[in-house]
Amino acid sequence: MYSFLKALLHNPRETGAIFPSSRFLAKEMAAHVLQNQEGVVVELGAGTGVVTKALLQSGIQPQNIIVVESSKSMVKKLQRCFPTIQIIEGDAAELTTLLAHEKREIHTILSSLPLRSLPKATTQSILKQINTLLSSRGRYIQFTYSFTQDQFFSPPHFQHIVSKRIWMNLPPARVDVWA
Ligand SMILES: C[S@@+](CC[C@H](N)C(=O)[O-])C[C@H]1O[C@@H](n2cnc3c(N)ncnc32)[C@H](O)[C@@H]1O
Repeated sequence: MYSFLKALLHNPRETGAIFPSSRFLAKEMAAHVLQNQEGVVVELGAGTGVVTKALLQSGIQPQNIIVVESSKSMVKKLQRCFPTIQIIEGDAAELTTLLAHEKREIHTILSSLPLRSLPKATTQSILKQINTLLSSRGRYIQFTYSFTQDQFFSPPHFQHIVSKRIWMNLPPARVDVWA
């Protein structure tokens, strides 16, 4: 909680939340990752690591998870908590470059990025890269606090397959899945 508050005070727009995600929200996000897939899961904006923990608890192996997080203090905390997971410090807007070394297929991208508070051009660029990087059977999982569904936040050429509200989160959130 301390590291989250520190990041919030340092950069409120990038943190994009006043509280870390609840374990209920994290569990719901992890539940949409297809199990027993060849390849890797990429998590964007892992923050305190609550979703990362839920991924591990759901059975995803640490060597098959890659985390991208822009906040230095969060990255340090994530590296301490998850020493066997690849944690990349970087901006998701540079996702293709950050993952250029990865030769395995990416079957899922989960994101806690505050897309609605990032500049529109950055959001569009991230979504286009998600679209290009995901395998053809891939899934994109994003949470939002917004009550409205907006096509702008969908990756191009993907179908919206799940929209589930999570009331046990502060504030209540929604998990969206595209495939
Ligand atoms: C809503 S918060 C984290 C939520 C997380 N589930 C938690 O409970 O801690 C969003 C996270 O995205 C990170 N972030 C924001 N913009 C980013 C970007 N462009 N690239 C990578 N990470 C980013 C922030 O540093 C923050 O840790």
